[in-house]
Amino acid sequence: MPESTTVLNTPFTLPCGVTLKNRIAKGAMTEGLSDETNMAKPSHARLYRRWAEGGTGLLITGNVMVDHRYLERPGNIAIDGKQTNEQLSALKDLSRSGQVNGTAIWIQLNHAGRQTPDFINPQPVGPSAVQTHTSGVKFGLPRALEEQDIQEIIQRFGYAAGIARQTGFNGVQIHSAHGYLLSSFLNPNANKRQDQWGGNLKNRARLLREVVRSVRENVGPEYPVGVKLNSSDFQKGGFSNQDCIQVAQWLQEEGIDLLEISGGNYESPAMVDLPEEKQRDSTRKREAYFLEFAQMLHDSKTPPLMVTGGNRTRQAMEKAIGQSGVSIIGIARPLCGQPDGPNLIFSGAIGTLQKMEEEVRIGPGILGFHSPFKFIAQLNGWGQLAWCVRQMHEMSEGCPPNRKFGALGSFIWLEKHNKRILTRMKGQS
Ligand SMILES: Cc1cc2nc3c(=O)[nH]c(=O)nc-3n(C[C@H](O)[C@H](O)[C@H](O)COP(=O)(O)O)c2cc1C
Repeated sequence: MPESTTVLNTPFTLPCGVTLKNRIAKGAMTEGLSDETNMAKPSHARLYRRWAEGGTGLLITGNVMVDHRYLERPGNIAIDGKQTNEQLSALKDLSRSGQVNGTAIWIQLNHAGRQTPDFINPQPVGPSAVQTHTSGVKFGLPRALEEQDIQEIIQRFGYAAGIARQTGFNGVQIHSAHGYLLSSFLNPNANKRQDQWGGNLKNRARLLREVVRSVRENVGPEYPVGVKLNSSDFQKGGFSNQDCIQVAQWLQEEGIDLLEISGGNYESPAMVDLPEEKQRDSTRKREAYFLEFAQMLHDSKTPPLMVTGGNRTRQAMEKAIGQSGVSIIGIARPLCGQPDGPNLIFSGAIGTLQKMEEEVRIGPGILGFHSPFKFIAQLNGWGQLAWCVRQMHEMSEGCPPNRKFGALGSFIWLEKHNKRILTRMKGQS
């Protein structure tokens, strides 16, 4: 273990009393490593062991779905209904592997809601019948959830959290960001309800709060419970910074242990790329953007904060802990190419993580992210996500990340991989 030379390598104790060994967490990244069974696989265990060896203090799994009908992608893990011994033991293998080296591993729980791709389920569900429109992935018109559906979903989150605890995970994170079900209830553009689950912010946040309570009931007071929340939806009329500050205060009242701040959804993917207008001023670069907001949040009464999105330099990450009131630094994409990134930062071997968001692209100029041809610009984004998934698959087979992979090749690879799982899913139904 390298010598500790930085505040990033100091422990942090959560309100529930559990201590994380350092300040770096791997943000959730969907792995697509399962198949039509939606079970954890030995490949998950190998991948998470690799990350645990790389020095990250907290590993948050890719989203694990609480309802197998509403997956985020083919190959998600789902904890849905009574778990068989085989399912339980697969989850135990995963939790054990993520704990080598004193690392903590939390399960991220999610329901994809209206962002369930059309090829998985042509009729998703959501707060209201408002469709997600974006290029690249097609989403069906959602059915508005009824009262009894909502009550069932609250139970599903609680049940899955109980299974996470039973199978040895060190905590859970509730996914209420990026436009999935819980996040869509918060978003006035997607939630047009006029009952107790829609309208003013208190009503729109009711589902998230009920889910937190259900989870807490199933895991007890001394077990880490986190929430991932958008700082804003980055859309006119959507969930705003002010809304986020209020919801963060309510989550503090609910007694959560860690609040991860991100942003955006499929229609405005700020989680991986800030909209142009937010980038114009060079002082508002991504790394600074979420930190500025974290500072605002910290000034009000909120749970301990984790901030994810664009954290790349040791200097900025240290400053975030020291000055912006951030407790935990979230890192996602760089850990796909650099699983040892945290150890390298701690030892002083590097001062900046790989900026793969600049390196992994189809080409320079008009073939790159800022191509005047919207289709090409977007293909770069999809290619980059696919590159991350492909590297996770490499590591899950015991191989190092492969620097030769490109954005376009990875995009094609992922399309084929998804099709294979879909064919098997169809064969099963
Ligand atoms: C391949 C990939 C998969 C992702 N899957 C999830 C997910 O399952 N749940 C989630 O909350 N965020 C997910 N994200 C978003 C990341 O957790 C993170 O918020 C985002 O990548 C920004 O952090 P970064 O700049 O360090 O990559 C994913 C991102 C990528 C690139």
